[in-house]
Amino acid sequence: MERAHEAPVRIVIVGAGYVGLVSGACLAALGHDVAVIDRDAARIAGLQAGIMPIYEPGLDALVAEQTAAGRLAFSTDLAAAIPGSVAIFICVGTPPRPSDGHADMANVMAAAADIAGALDRFAVVVLKSTVPVGTGDEVEALIRTRRPGADVAVVSNPEFLREGDAIGDFMRPDRIVVGTDHARARAVMATIYAPLAEAGVPLLATSRRASELIKYAANSFLALKITYINEIASLCEEIGADVEHVARGIGLDTRIGGKFLKAGPGFGGSCFPKDMLALMKTAQDHGVPMRTVETAVAVNDARKGEMVRKVIRAAGGSVAGRTVAVLGLAFKAGTDDMRSAPSLVILPQLQRHGARIVAYDPAAMANASPLLPGVVMAPSAEAALAGADLTVILTEWPEFAALDLERVAGLLRRPVLVDLRNLIDPPAAARAGLTCHRIGRQAALVDTSLHSALQQAAE
Ligand code: UGA
Repeated sequence: MERAHEAPVRIVIVGAGYVGLVSGACLAALGHDVAVIDRDAARIAGLQAGIMPIYEPGLDALVAEQTAAGRLAFSTDLAAAIPGSVAIFICVGTPPRPSDGHADMANVMAAAADIAGALDRFAVVVLKSTVPVGTGDEVEALIRTRRPGADVAVVSNPEFLREGDAIGDFMRPDRIVVGTDHARARAVMATIYAPLAEAGVPLLATSRRASELIKYAANSFLALKITYINEIASLCEEIGADVEHVARGIGLDTRIGGKFLKAGPGFGGSCFPKDMLALMKTAQDHGVPMRTVETAVAVNDARKGEMVRKVIRAAGGSVAGRTVAVLGLAFKAGTDDMRSAPSLVILPQLQRHGARIVAYDPAAMANASPLLPGVVMAPSAEAALAGADLTVILTEWPEFAALDLERVAGLLRRPVLVDLRNLIDPPAAARAGLTCHRIGRQAALVDTSLHSALQQAAE
């Protein structure tokens, strides 16, 4: 990525979490001078020593490169970092409040108060954390109360980063949304993102409230799309159609689009469930029920139970006393994140039905272990499979797609595979002697010729 053509902007990032670290490292890679600040001294000391507090492919290398280039630094001292900085990005967490499901703004407001105390010149305060509509107004009011004369603009600039693909999503986004009516602030944001805009990325200028809503509306829409294809998949299983054909058939319509039509065990992660809840709350507060979103949440919750029943059916009607090998625990591949992972619901239910579970995940086992009591963590996929009565693929890690299926069949006590991510090629599974149960397709109705043709077309 090219460096900024105009003078680099001095940027402070508040919060060395997922969004803050990725944004900080990428803004440095765009040529800016970036200081990432966090109150957690151990986290900052680790980052100064090159230790990443999160798992994200490519982040450690990018941080090392930008730190060595002198464009990226880490500190706990916000007051020292702000003077001379033009833009201060708030990237702190906004978890759901247990009491009512509203996003908890305590971290955002604490950051805003700290920033207000340190402002020394015109600065743009950028809300990158996912915040309810109207938070920009509240942050601005708080700063103006604390520092009545401050020359400051508060801008909404939501992030659209996927875990596991975050650096690519930052450097090659579909769009950049900047929400503000303040002309000078908009110019600062245009300078910051100039290298991306020059590479053709659309920069959408909106009001602050529209920008805040875009984030929730985008995530909820993607979750609706996944929920819809999951329901179509269940119908496919009953009528003898293949959901991948249906997804491709509808996705080629550019009005629908082919992405986020992969049927699976239900969406999870730290974003969709939390953001849908927050959108529903905002909508309720304004007397505008969001019934599509409410329904998608309910359908997605029920989906985990459906997956349990699917596994039990594949086991011949009962998993009691059976050993189930589970491949993948994280909510998706490329992350060690266990937040709202389908495994957290599916595995305990299988245990309640009497299954003994041996699991393997390439990245998430350390996070998963305390959340899944009684689940044995295996050191490798092969170790998990050895002697199992049934295998369930729960996360689409590439290493599971690359498994030697004949070896898999040899390791299992019974050659039964429940592929909840449609990762395994059915003809290859059949050749290896594995009975493969997939999502959105009856095991007995595998049309191998059509599958191969579809694979070739996709390649
Ligand atoms: C999501 C959005 O995709 C990002 O644009 C957004 O910035 C981010 O939330 C956020 O708000 O911070 P993420 O939660 O990392 O990103 O994960 P996704 O790749 O969107 O996947 C979410 C869930 O949907 C996963 O459980 C995944 O397995 C599932 N999914 C996704 C499907 O079941 N099918 C699909 O076709 C796509």
